[in-house]
Amino acid sequence: MSDERPPGGETRRGEPLGAAGIPGVTGGPGAKASTRPRFTAPRIVEMKRRGDPIVVVTAYDFPTSRIADEAGAEILLVGDSLGTVVLGYESTLPVTVEDILHHTRAVVRANPKALVVADMPFMSYQVSDEQAVLNAGRLVKEGGADAVKLEGGERVAPAVRRMVEAGIPVMGHLGLTPQSVLAFGGYKVQARGEADQERLLREAGLLEQAGCFSLVLEGIPARLGGLVTRAIGIPTIGIGAGPQCDGQVLVSHDLLGLFLGHQPKFVRRYADLGEAMREAFGRYAADVKARRFPSDAESY
Ligand code: KIV
Repeated sequence: MSDERPPGGETRRGEPLGAAGIPGVTGGPGAKASTRPRFTAPRIVEMKRRGDPIVVVTAYDFPTSRIADEAGAEILLVGDSLGTVVLGYESTLPVTVEDILHHTRAVVRANPKALVVADMPFMSYQVSDEQAVLNAGRLVKEGGADAVKLEGGERVAPAVRRMVEAGIPVMGHLGLTPQSVLAFGGYKVQARGEADQERLLREAGLLEQAGCFSLVLEGIPARLGGLVTRAIGIPTIGIGAGPQCDGQVLVSHDLLGLFLGHQPKFVRRYADLGEAMREAFGRYAADVKARRFPSDAESY
C-alpha cells in the first residue's frame, strides 16, 4: 500500500512544506518525515478488529493538522463545528460547502498521515441524492479529503450508498446531530427512551449496510454507545457517547481551551491555550507600549 496521498485538488501533496514563521510547527524544509503509515478507510476499519482505539480530533487549518498528526491522531475531521469555534456563528447551520472546502485544503496541505474527513454542511446533501454525491465529490476532488461525513440515519442511507458506489468513503453520524438543532429544540442528549434507542440501533445497522466505514455517535447514553459498538462491524467514534466506543473524537478548540462558549460535560480540557494567548498578547502589547519591542537584536 502506498503511503503517499493520491494526487488531486489544488493541494501540493508530497512537496516539502515550509512552516517558516509558525512557531512550534515542524515540517519546514528539512523536517523529519513521519514513519507512521498513512491511514485509509480500510485501515481504520481494521483497527476495530484489532481492538485498537481510534483517535479523532477536529482540524481546520495547516498548523493544527500538522501538530495533531504528529501527536498521533488517526483521523482529522474538518467538522462543520468550524462554524461555531472558528467562524463565530451560533450554530453549524450557516456553514457552506465553500467554507469546508477552504479549510479542508488547508488541512490537507500539511500532508498528514491521518485520514482527512470533510464534513458535509447543512443543506449540501438533504435535497437529493444526486446533490449529495456531487457535493461529496467536490470535497474529495477539489478539497483533497479522503472521506466525507454526513448526519442522519435511514433518511441519508440511499445517498451514502450512492457515494460509496462512486468510490467515496463515508462516515455516518447519529444521536445528537447538531444540524438538527432546530428540530431537537436545543443541544440535548438523544435516545434516552427505549423506542429511540431501538431506532438508533436499527439506523446504525442501515448505515453499515449502506457502506459507511465508521460512525460518529454523539450525545447518547453510554450504555447505548456500547450496544451499538457491539452490534455493528464498523468502528464507532464517540463524542459524549461513553467509553465503550471504538474511538473518541473531540473538537480541538474544546480540548485546547480555545472555545469561549458553553462546554458540554463530555469535554476534557487538556490545555488552556485561551489563557496562554491572552497572556502572550498582553505581554506583547505592554512591550510595544513601553517601547521594549523590538530590541536591537530584533532589528536590521
Ligand atoms: O463538526 C464536528 O466537529 C463534528 C464532531 C463533533 C463529531 O461533527
